[in-house]
Amino acid sequence: MDEITISAPATVSNVVCGFDCLGFALSEPFDRMTLRKTDRREIRISHQDDHDLPVDPEKNVAGVALKAFLDRTNAKHGFEIEIMKRIKPGSGIGSSAASAAGAVVAANRLMSEPFSNRELVELAMAGEVIASGSRHADNLAPCIYGGFVLVRSLDPLDIIELDFPPLFATVIHPQIEIRTSEARKILPVTVPLKDAVYNWSNLAAFVAGLQNGDYDLMARSMVDKIIEPVRSGMIPRFDVVKAAALSAGAIGAGISGSGPSVFAISASAQTAEAVAAAIEKVYSETDIQFIVYVSPISASGVSPI
Ligand code: HSE
Repeated sequence: MDEITISAPATVSNVVCGFDCLGFALSEPFDRMTLRKTDRREIRISHQDDHDLPVDPEKNVAGVALKAFLDRTNAKHGFEIEIMKRIKPGSGIGSSAASAAGAVVAANRLMSEPFSNRELVELAMAGEVIASGSRHADNLAPCIYGGFVLVRSLDPLDIIELDFPPLFATVIHPQIEIRTSEARKILPVTVPLKDAVYNWSNLAAFVAGLQNGDYDLMARSMVDKIIEPVRSGMIPRFDVVKAAALSAGAIGAGISGSGPSVFAISASAQTAEAVAAAIEKVYSETDIQFIVYVSPISASGVSPI
């Protein structure tokens, strides 16, 4: 096989109580990429979208991830990649992770799968670092594995796939850009012990709620005393959007990744649609453009199409 086309899903990371360690895959939106082997050991990139992303492989997230991949192989060939980005950069739903994850999963398929999913997350992290300035895998891991995923440790990388009950996500993406690197600079370096206890108790309870399909426990656990209070100020009308989502019946709601997208999860597609209508109403009262996605949590990550 010399060519493959894949889809790479958007992802929601942090999920309120799991900063830098918890994430899930969405069914919509997703990027599309075609990867071809080239005769020489090189990386060539082209973008079939309007995002004006760099095509220099050393500056492009997918290019950096592919270089990390090639460096771990003896391949005599390289790769040419065509990227059609549908996940807007700076949206908070794992745009850079989709580029990096999509590239390495596609390359792995073209080379008869020398690497495990865990190794692919490790390789893709090289790309994520140039986008966000930090190593984290809470978008990459669900993008590659699908479903709900916990990153217990980065070094060594330890990824746990979680069971989860039927869940539907509503995501509103206000059309403003927040760079992850900027959204990380404003975070506290130290936190009071009582806030840390509050957060890790809730993360553990949320995971128990997921495993047991206990929506009420999940709802009680989607709280955060450390990150959300600092970052929410960067998102116009965040508190109103969150309150509207909860009033419409969402299990919980919060900032998707580093924002500006705000997500909610619901137990049914019908509630997720009602949440969409409620939060659309909030943003319709502003002059900020927005896009809303309603999608089931996807059990699959990057997949051939
Ligand atoms: N966990 C990361 C953050 C995700 O919140 O900074 C951003 O991609």
